[in-house]
Amino acid sequence: MRGWTKDFVRSVKDILNTLKMSDRRSRSVSPDPRAPKRQKIGHLTKEDFKNGIFLAPMVRSGALPTRLFALKHGATLVWGPEIVDKAILHAKREVDPVTGVVSYNGVSRAIFTTHPIEKPYLIYQIGSADPELAVQAAKTVQQDVSGIDLNCGCPKPFSTHAGMGAALLTNPDLLISILEALRKAMPPEITVTAKIRLLPSQEDTLKLVERIVNTGVSALTVHCRTRNMREKDRAVIERLNEIVEFVEKMGKGIAVIENGDCLDWEDAKRVRRVTGAHSVMIARGAEANPSCFSEKPLVDVERTLWPSYFRLCKYLGHHWGLTKYCIAQFRSTRVEVTKAEAADIRQRLSQAKDYDNMTDFVKEWTGEEEMKEIVDAINNNCPRQRRMLPSSFALSPEEAEKFVTPSATQNPEPPTSGAPLLPSNIERDASNFPPPPALTPTPSSAIPSAPLSV
Ligand SMILES: Cc1cc2nc3c(=O)[nH]c(=O)nc-3n(C[C@H](O)[C@H](O)[C@H](O)COP(=O)(O)O)c2cc1C
Repeated sequence: MRGWTKDFVRSVKDILNTLKMSDRRSRSVSPDPRAPKRQKIGHLTKEDFKNGIFLAPMVRSGALPTRLFALKHGATLVWGPEIVDKAILHAKREVDPVTGVVSYNGVSRAIFTTHPIEKPYLIYQIGSADPELAVQAAKTVQQDVSGIDLNCGCPKPFSTHAGMGAALLTNPDLLISILEALRKAMPPEITVTAKIRLLPSQEDTLKLVERIVNTGVSALTVHCRTRNMREKDRAVIERLNEIVEFVEKMGKGIAVIENGDCLDWEDAKRVRRVTGAHSVMIARGAEANPSCFSEKPLVDVERTLWPSYFRLCKYLGHHWGLTKYCIAQFRSTRVEVTKAEAADIRQRLSQAKDYDNMTDFVKEWTGEEEMKEIVDAINNNCPRQRRMLPSSFALSPEEAEKFVTPSATQNPEPPTSGAPLLPSNIERDASNFPPPPALTPTPSSAIPSAPLSV
């Protein structure tokens, strides 16, 4: 074994040991007495949800390798894909002693995979319509994650017909009871959060937000679309300002996380300026390029990202079909890669049946090195310390001039909801308000259309 490989295996063992992996059923490794002491990273607090740039929960696209690349390239925290409560309850937890990958295996497939290196930054998202099941699901994965998030925004029938996802928005008593049950059952070091969509009326949204904040959540994500809106509809981020102010006035120190139509690091500054949100969360921008969290995202991803993503996936034993799916979504600015070259590479991918079919393209399958780079990047530059400080997105006086609220957009209704415009009757203290927001340009043309929108 080469020197660094030994160090790396030792480092993985060390992580496992530090995180007190105690699964008797797993093939876990015994602690190595020679392993150097790792710096202990404290559990998440409300502050960790502020001034951050987060990877959104994404079924399929938010898989372990994507989360690891997102952390390597600047994401502060990462959300796992929604997993329905019942699905995880009977999964068997197994730890790969070489890679450290933790798999929650169902009968025929892994339902959830993670790695100890992401634990301090990982929020596990639950789909649920039942407080008891939600608690059981959270307890099942608790040892491998830092927080539990409740999905209250998925508008797809597979979620809503069972009363989950966006259906919870119209059943607030149930939504609240699940959050309360989770908060009560989870130890203090596990955060509980929620991700909602806007309700058609701002007043109803604020009422719901107030109840959610009072459950003791550590942060609240607001996807700035209503249940009836689709990703092609512009996110109405200008409605968030009032929600942020409202939550701040409640005085519980809760972060409001903006989600919807934020493309990357640079765009996050715009979104924070317009909304006043404490943090932003990116889905499709990261699905297209997991390095979008960086001030300098990767360009020419077919050359710069595809090969290393393949290597990492193979090394981690990641399911081929899922790897192929995720890679097919990657897109970026082309600088050196020509259109023809990119098309040729994509053609190869579409014809490939397994990792071996990509050997010519990937050259050497040195996935351990990819993993080591990720571990080093995370250890040397703790993701939770990478913050978008407010000074980096403060408005200049010239910019502030431009931010004028167009009339009748105080609470704009989504174009697809068909609901009438309603004036807000929420009491506001104008002196505390940041400058009025501008309407956001629609960036949807810049984002590849997603096959699945939750
Ligand atoms: C492929 C895909 C999968 C998604 N899966 C989830 C999910 O599991 N849970 C969830 O709350 N939202 C899910 N979403 C919604 C996103 O988290 C996010 O709310 C939405 O895409 C808007 O953000 P964006 O404009 O940055 O894409 C998914 C979106 C996409 C594109």
